[in-house]
Amino acid sequence: MSAKKILITGGAGFIGSHVVRLFVNKYPDYEIVNLDKLTYAGNLENLRDIENKVNYRFIKGDIVDASAMLKLFADEQFDGVIHLAAESHVDRSLENPNEFVMTNIIGTVNLLQAALKTWNNDSSKRFYHISTDEVYGSVEDGSLFTEHTPIDPQSPYSSSKAGSDHFVKAFHNSYKLPVLISRCSNNYGANHFPEKLIPLMINNILENKPLPVYGKGENVRDWLYVEDHASAIDAIFHKGKTGEVYNIGGNNEWKNIDLVNFLCSLMDKKLERPEGTSAKLITYVKDRPGHDLRYAIDSSKLQNDLGWSPSLVFEVGLEKTVDWYLNNKEWLSNVTSGQYKDYYTQMYSKR
Ligand code: NAD
Ligand code: DAU
Repeated sequence: MSAKKILITGGAGFIGSHVVRLFVNKYPDYEIVNLDKLTYAGNLENLRDIENKVNYRFIKGDIVDASAMLKLFADEQFDGVIHLAAESHVDRSLENPNEFVMTNIIGTVNLLQAALKTWNNDSSKRFYHISTDEVYGSVEDGSLFTEHTPIDPQSPYSSSKAGSDHFVKAFHNSYKLPVLISRCSNNYGANHFPEKLIPLMINNILENKPLPVYGKGENVRDWLYVEDHASAIDAIFHKGKTGEVYNIGGNNEWKNIDLVNFLCSLMDKKLERPEGTSAKLITYVKDRPGHDLRYAIDSSKLQNDLGWSPSLVFEVGLEKTVDWYLNNKEWLSNVTSGQYKDYYTQMYSKR
C-alpha cells in the first residue's frame, strides 16, 4: 500500500505509544499524526524519545467530537487510520458504562463517518480498528477463539468494543469502506497504567500493599508482549486484506494466581530479598462481576497468511517489563499521583 500520512488515535496510551514509536522509527518517510484526548490513561511522557522527530505530530483531540473529526480528516487528508483510542479497563466500565459507549462506540462511528465522507471511495485507503479478544466472551478449556467464533461480549467494556467492531464491519459491508480489524489478547510491557493486573501488582509490591486477586485467581488470560502486538499491527496494516479480521495472541495462557506468584518470585529476585516475601501480600478479594473465566486465542491466520509470530517468550518479556518499572519509578509515581491521583486512588479504594 502507498499510505504516507497516517492517523494513529490513542497514541499516548499504553499500546498506542508503542505503535507510534514503531511507525515513527521504522517509516521515516511517513507522516505520523497522533490524536489523543489525554485521559488519565494517555501520557505524553510515553513518547518523550520520539516527540521531536520530523515525521511525528501530536494533536490533542476527542474522537467523540464529530465535527472536529470531520474537520481533521478534511484538513489532513489521511491515507490511513490506526484506531486505538478507547476506554480500556473492564473494572471502570462496570462503574461507568456511559463513558465506554461514548468513546468506544460513538467515537469510532465518528471516525468512520469522517473517513467515509473524505475518502471518496478510494480503495487504497485503510481504516484499521484495534479490537480485543474480549468481544468473543469466555471460552471453554480446550477450545480457542478463531475469527469465526461468534461475538458474545460479557462486560460493558467488551460490549462497547463489540459494538464498535460491528460498526466497522457495517461500514465495509454497506459503503465499501476499506477496513481491517484485529482482536488481540492481554498485552503487557512498559507504560502500562497500574490499574491493570501486571503493573498493579508490580506497583503494589514496590509499595508493600496487598495484591488483590479476584475470586479464586483461577481465571485464565493469554499474555502478549506489547511490542509484539505493535509488530502485528504493522503487519496487518501493510499486508492485511481489507474486510478481514485477524486474531493476535501469544500462545501463552496463565491462570491469574500462577502469574501473580511467578511475578512475586521475580520481584523478590530483583529486589534481592527472601523468596516468598512478595507472595505474602497476595490477598483474595471479591470477584469482578461477570468475570470471564478464560480467554485463549488462535492466531494461526495471522501467522500463516502474514508471517507474523511473537518474538519473546513470556519469561523474558516479563523480566524486561519488571526491569522497565524498576528503572522508571518516576513514571510510576507520576501516574499514581499529581493529575492522575484521583483516578488511581478512586480505583484502588474500591477494592
Ligand atoms: P489505554 O487505556 O492505555 O489507552 C487509551 C488511549 O486512548 C489513551 O491515550 C487515552 O487518552 C485515549 N483516549 C481515550 N478516550 C479518548 C477519546 N475520546 N478521544 C481521543 N483519545 C482518547 O489503552 P490500551 O491498553 O493501550 O488499549 C489500546 C487499544 O487496544 C484499545 O482500543 C483497547 O480496546 C485495545 N486492546 C487492548 C488490549 C490490552 O491488553 N491493553 C488488548 C487488546 C486490545
Ligand atoms: O483480553 C484483552 C483485554 O485485556 C483488553 O481488551 C483490555 O483492554 C485489557 O484491560 C485486558 O482486560 P482484562 O480484564 O483481562 O485485564 P486486567 O489486567 O484488568 O485483568 C487481568 C485478569 O486479572 C482478569 O482476570 C482480572 C484479574 N485481576 C485484575 C486486576 C486489575 C485481578 O485478579 N486483580 C486485579 O487487581
